[in-house]
Amino acid sequence: MRPVARSAIATGVLLFSQSGAAAGADQGAQLAATCASCHRLDGGGTGIPSIIGLSEERLTNALLAYRASESPNHIMHVIALSLSDEEIASVARYVAALGSNPR
Ligand code: HEC
Repeated sequence: MRPVARSAIATGVLLFSQSGAAAGADQGAQLAATCASCHRLDGGGTGIPSIIGLSEERLTNALLAYRASESPNHIMHVIALSLSDEEIASVARYVAALGSNPR
């Protein structure tokens, strides 16, 4: 795993434990904590698009597309590059389950 992702995880886990949302230490929750350092997981928007409310399929496809992108400057490309297929599947499942209204 790349250093960028590792520090994002550290930040995310901290945010998560402070909000008391870390009920279990399962992989999806841990990965979602890395997303929370940029995407709010309560569905609020702050300029960065909310990922809450997206379907599992949409999340998976978006992450696969970001990972496949050749653009070296895109932040989501870097994030997605650090994720295996299995990690993309579990974070997509977890985040989709957080949102009750898939678009
Ligand atoms: C360092 C900040 C950062 C982190 C960490 C991050 N993202 Fe993002 N993400 C962004 C930005 C910025 C965009 C908007 C990119 C764009 O405009 O194309 C984005 C866009 C997205 C989109 C597209 C949303 C849409 O409506 O199409 C998805 C899905 C997404 N991120 C999922 C994730 C997931 C899942 C994680 C955790 C594994 C994550 N992101 C972690 C910054 C981040």
